[in-house]
Amino acid sequence: MNILDIIAKKRDKQELSEEEISFFIDEYVNGNIEDYQASALLMAMYINGMNIDETVNLTLAMANSSNVLDFEGVFENSYVLDKHSTGGVGDKVTMIAIPIAASLGVKVFKMSGRGLGFTGGTADKLESIEGYKVEQDLVGALRVLNENGACMITQSNELAIADKKLYALRDVTATVDSLPLIASSIMSKKIASGVDKIVLDVTCGDGAFCKNEEEAIKLSRMMVRIGKLVQKETIAVVTSMDDPLGRKVGNTLEVEEVIEFLLASREEIESEKYKDIKDVVFEVVACMMKLAGISDSIRESKAKIMEEIVSKRAYKKFIDIVKAQGGHITSVYMEHLTENIDIPVLPYKAKFMKEIKADKNGYVNYVRTDKIGQALVELGGGRHKKEDEIDLSVGFELKKKNGEYVNQGDCIMQVYFNDKEKFDNAAVYIAEGLKVNDSKVIGTPMILDVITEEDLN
Ligand code: URA
Repeated sequence: MNILDIIAKKRDKQELSEEEISFFIDEYVNGNIEDYQASALLMAMYINGMNIDETVNLTLAMANSSNVLDFEGVFENSYVLDKHSTGGVGDKVTMIAIPIAASLGVKVFKMSGRGLGFTGGTADKLESIEGYKVEQDLVGALRVLNENGACMITQSNELAIADKKLYALRDVTATVDSLPLIASSIMSKKIASGVDKIVLDVTCGDGAFCKNEEEAIKLSRMMVRIGKLVQKETIAVVTSMDDPLGRKVGNTLEVEEVIEFLLASREEIESEKYKDIKDVVFEVVACMMKLAGISDSIRESKAKIMEEIVSKRAYKKFIDIVKAQGGHITSVYMEHLTENIDIPVLPYKAKFMKEIKADKNGYVNYVRTDKIGQALVELGGGRHKKEDEIDLSVGFELKKKNGEYVNQGDCIMQVYFNDKEKFDNAAVYIAEGLKVNDSKVIGTPMILDVITEEDLN
């Protein structure tokens, strides 16, 4: 077998066999296939597509390209779950959903990525907490998981090593946004992490990878099918990312919003203020409870989730996980709760704040949410390149969301920053991403679809 024949076969729109795909992955990881040859094959896969058998074979070859973890025997009678989001702007769902799920008895082994481009990464956000160690070895991660029912760590460099190498190549050869390549990249890491079942939050809209619903549903079905074929039951929740999620965007700011949400009252959680976060978090956790065998009724699960938050049990679980991973905690008197509450120490504070004001009367419209994500990168809160250091203190607080009415001069957004030149660069993107319109744009529901194994035909 040789790589030239494999490239030619895919170039000529033929199906690659399991052996050919395994050969490509093994030899590429071993250094016997050059980057330019792998790039040519990726481009042929991108242009001519791959059927489901090829996609599954690629997924498994990448999953098995280095260590594969195994939770067999770690918990008696409990599945270990993962929750993964395809990313977005202001996406803090993992940091809220995992403690709620763990508090309700779901075991979660959560590995998160770092931010690259206009979407943020949970691993960076958690590092806004003083002392929090996202880089844990397996022994440390299992200890946290055993003691608290969940851990939130960063993606191990040793898992699915082929995906790591290929993803870096796709990033510089315009071959990222291919559905079979995305599906196999995500699922290979999930399979290598050894979890039993998976909930995917497949984001969709101008602030996400998938720009339209049809594409997001296609990707979701592909990943649910891969999960089924490898006996790791998967549910995909297709969610809207037309608007930044929640009211805070930026690493420290998002952790602040996580704390606020987990300490909110029932009335606040049911209010317009938290509607988008609530809709996504409740659906994702209810799906996790279903897969964990805790409850089949999504409605009953959502009632339990609300109780878990308003009783502060979910918040306590968040604090327990943060402490177990080395995060520093301080006790603060909260006037609205009339009690002392343990909160994580968030040491990064921006020096300056400026308001973005409405230039006329009308309705706020985040016309290009990706531009808001890009504005965060310009402030220093995200990365242009993988090696970039990020500024955890900068970001935005949205005073108005899509569809809210403003008068000329009203504050729409507060920008927290440390460098005036960076602010000016970010302001260009904000101007492209945020408009005031004469008419109100009707938003889509947050939950666009939920795809389970039963939905596959
Ligand atoms: N996230 C991944 O892990 N891989 C992709 O290809 C795209 C998004």
